[in-house]
Amino acid sequence: MTLIDQRDEIKNRIREAADIVQVIGECVELKKAGSRFTGLCPFHAEKTASFSVNPQGQFFHCFGCGESGDVFSFMMKYHHLTFPDALKDLAGRYHVDLPERKMSDADRARMQKRDQLYRINKSASTIYQDYLLSSENGESAREYLRQRGVPDEIIIKYQLGYAPDPDVGGWKFITSRLQSKKFSTVLIEQAGLAVKKDNGGYYDRFRDRVLFPIFDMSGRVVAFGGRILGEGKPKYMNSPESMIFDKSRLLFGLHQHREVIRKSRRALVVEGNFDLLLLAVHGIDNVVAPLGTALTRQHIKSLRGYCDEVVLLFDGDSAGLKAARRSIPFFLAEQVEGKVALLPHGHDPDSLVREKGATGITDLVERAKPLAEFVFEALVEEFGLTLSGKSLIMQELAALVQEASDPGQKDLMVAHFSEKLGVSPARFLSGPVRSFQAERQDVGESSRSFQQLPRKQRQLVDFLVLYPEFLQELQKGGLAKVVTEPALQELVHSLEQLGKMGPVAPEQLLSLLPGEKDRQYVADLLMRGAGAGDEDGERGKALCDELLLWIKSALRQRDGASLQKQIHEAQRSGDFALVESLLKEKMNVIREKRLLSR
Ligand code: GTP
Ligand code: MN
Repeated sequence: MTLIDQRDEIKNRIREAADIVQVIGECVELKKAGSRFTGLCPFHAEKTASFSVNPQGQFFHCFGCGESGDVFSFMMKYHHLTFPDALKDLAGRYHVDLPERKMSDADRARMQKRDQLYRINKSASTIYQDYLLSSENGESAREYLRQRGVPDEIIIKYQLGYAPDPDVGGWKFITSRLQSKKFSTVLIEQAGLAVKKDNGGYYDRFRDRVLFPIFDMSGRVVAFGGRILGEGKPKYMNSPESMIFDKSRLLFGLHQHREVIRKSRRALVVEGNFDLLLLAVHGIDNVVAPLGTALTRQHIKSLRGYCDEVVLLFDGDSAGLKAARRSIPFFLAEQVEGKVALLPHGHDPDSLVREKGATGITDLVERAKPLAEFVFEALVEEFGLTLSGKSLIMQELAALVQEASDPGQKDLMVAHFSEKLGVSPARFLSGPVRSFQAERQDVGESSRSFQQLPRKQRQLVDFLVLYPEFLQELQKGGLAKVVTEPALQELVHSLEQLGKMGPVAPEQLLSLLPGEKDRQYVADLLMRGAGAGDEDGERGKALCDELLLWIKSALRQRDGASLQKQIHEAQRSGDFALVESLLKEKMNVIREKRLLSR
């Protein structure tokens, strides 16, 4: 039995042993309703029961917020567990033996190191906070926070701290305190709290800064962000990334705010730490801030567990707009509604809430625009809706669509934007209106060249060039539906045309490719590929199978996205029977996709 089979078997055994009604019943008051059980949804605030548990199918679904899954996903969502932890928890409660996983020495050493890093950050956080709250020398920082409108209860709630000025606290304020708590200097450095000098000595990383501890989702301090008091550079300094700190995954405030976010089903994203604090001062708590980086897909993924809608609060400068534009594919991929609220000129959330109070912010949030619409309108404002404006907009949007990483997302974006522009999706994909001649000439510019295609699509190009005889087989497998790159569509089209005249000699292709770069690419490929030797076609067959699998999985992903859409619609129209059958279908799609991605 392979490891994967073993895991599936254990999952099934647990699923059988742990009755979903009982597991959920411990957290939600359930009432029997026909063959199902219903109750108040634990994943969104509601007064009438729209949460339903289906014991036959062993899944739950909320008709209000759309949350659904099996007993494992319930445990993960409700108790914020990782999958292995959910498995362990249920296995323990229902007496299903898990195979003891042997931990290697290296694994154990890593675990111990992480443990120590958590402990040292916790210790440092306490020292910094004590210093802020009760040392005489902490007065400058207390005064700074008072001035910025941050009261004591907020200092406590976010466990803010202060690292003293070296003139007062010395250059080894935290380093020596941690050393005397028996932490090794190497560990202090690895945690990013001390910096090693060239001559071998150490000094504190954070000096004369207000410190914001960064918590992970389990509530452990994993890093600090530090703001200088007043003017000076750099304004902010963060702990370096470490075994326990990955800033592209964590959001400042999510640990403190996740319950509020869960209840309101909405998260606001601000850019600065002080923006977050000041909104909290004014009672707006469903807020997070990235740690000085642009929003990543991981950020959105981690918000997705708590809310359906994320509102970006940006100032109107172009950097904010660019960032908003770049995050569109992530929102699509994670199926979270992204919106943008633009701040009045010259304001950040901090200054706005101090001037106008909470309503200054909530009014903006209520008027927030869906991300795609927002970007579209900004482009219309920039280029206008004349014929030439439209074609410029199409170019910008096409570039954006190319950034989407899977065909399903691409389709959604193409459908959305082509409708907005009043052009057909095909027209949208093939680029702005031009004469045939012009079109041929700059295919290489308006669409990406082969070289620039995402990895899988480029693999397709390489394969089709070297093994054109497999084109039909790939087409039977659904090739056309996953090929969204114009350059690749063109290649497939050319191969098709050539194929009609008999077996394709790869070199014939060269004469048909419009772009110089692509001709060069294919020529190189042919030269390298020619000597590879694949007389019996084994290699070609194997590659073809691999690509067929990929096509299948890409199609599943898209089915998943379109099913999700249908589920929403069915929900809205109150057709619960349809919702249920669609859900079952979605589960199948997810299961199949999982099988394929092994
Ligand atoms: P102030 O209101 O000026 O105190 O700052 P802010 O919290 O509003 O931050 P700002 O809008 O200036 O910047 C947004 C975020 O970018 C900050 O919260 C930091 O996370 C990050 N950031 C800003 N300046 C720096 C810097 O000099 N270095 C680093 N690493 N990050 C910075
Ligand atoms: Mn600010």
